[in-house]
Amino acid sequence: MTHHPEQKGFTVWFTGLSGSGKSTLAEMLYHELQARNMRVELLDGDIVRQNLSKGLGFSKEDRDTNIRRIGFVANLLTRNGVIALTCAISPYREVRDECRALIGEFVEVYTYATVEEIAAHRDPKGLYRKAMAGEIKGFTGIDDPYEAPESPELVVDTMTQTPLESLQTILDRLRDLGYLEDSRMLAEGPKVHSGMTDLRLTETGHVAEGG
Ligand code: ADX
Repeated sequence: MTHHPEQKGFTVWFTGLSGSGKSTLAEMLYHELQARNMRVELLDGDIVRQNLSKGLGFSKEDRDTNIRRIGFVANLLTRNGVIALTCAISPYREVRDECRALIGEFVEVYTYATVEEIAAHRDPKGLYRKAMAGEIKGFTGIDDPYEAPESPELVVDTMTQTPLESLQTILDRLRDLGYLEDSRMLAEGPKVHSGMTDLRLTETGHVAEGG
């Protein structure tokens, strides 16, 4: 196995509304970094909430606790030369900036899509519908705040770009920031990007390749 012994750790911090594309892009990026034999871990929002943050809810206090925990782990990984990809909504600017200050090597990627777009076209679990009907209270973007980043390293507009186009802009930005030598996509092909469903996270957050 070839590792990059000199590999510099960094965190790619995805932030954006539920359904805006954070997990999809993080998984695609995960494949690209793996294809470069780079050490990478994915801290998916839902998986974190089943494990590290089990029992936390969606009050501001609980969300801030969740994000601080994710930041804590991302920092441990980053300082040990691993790339950490995080994809929690992380709606509050202040705690995101706290994580940025802690981690240092921090690339904030804002996945931009409007509530209207997500609710109309990307609501498979019907969460937006329920929140709009008042059946879920305190839902981000409906009756709970989302504070967009003021100067993220990158904004990807997932309403106008395809996932592959957004992935390419992320790879280009990582190259420009000096984290990647080459931004060409390596993990192309129907298997890897077939509906972004090829990559599965187990209960413990372990990444397993699907068939
Ligand atoms: S965060 O605010 O603490 O960053 P996180 O990303 O972990 O949120 O969890 C968001 C996911 O929890 C959403 O994708 C959605 O599936 C689910 N969820 C349940 N209740 C809420 C809520 N009130 N607001 C937002 N997401 C919710």
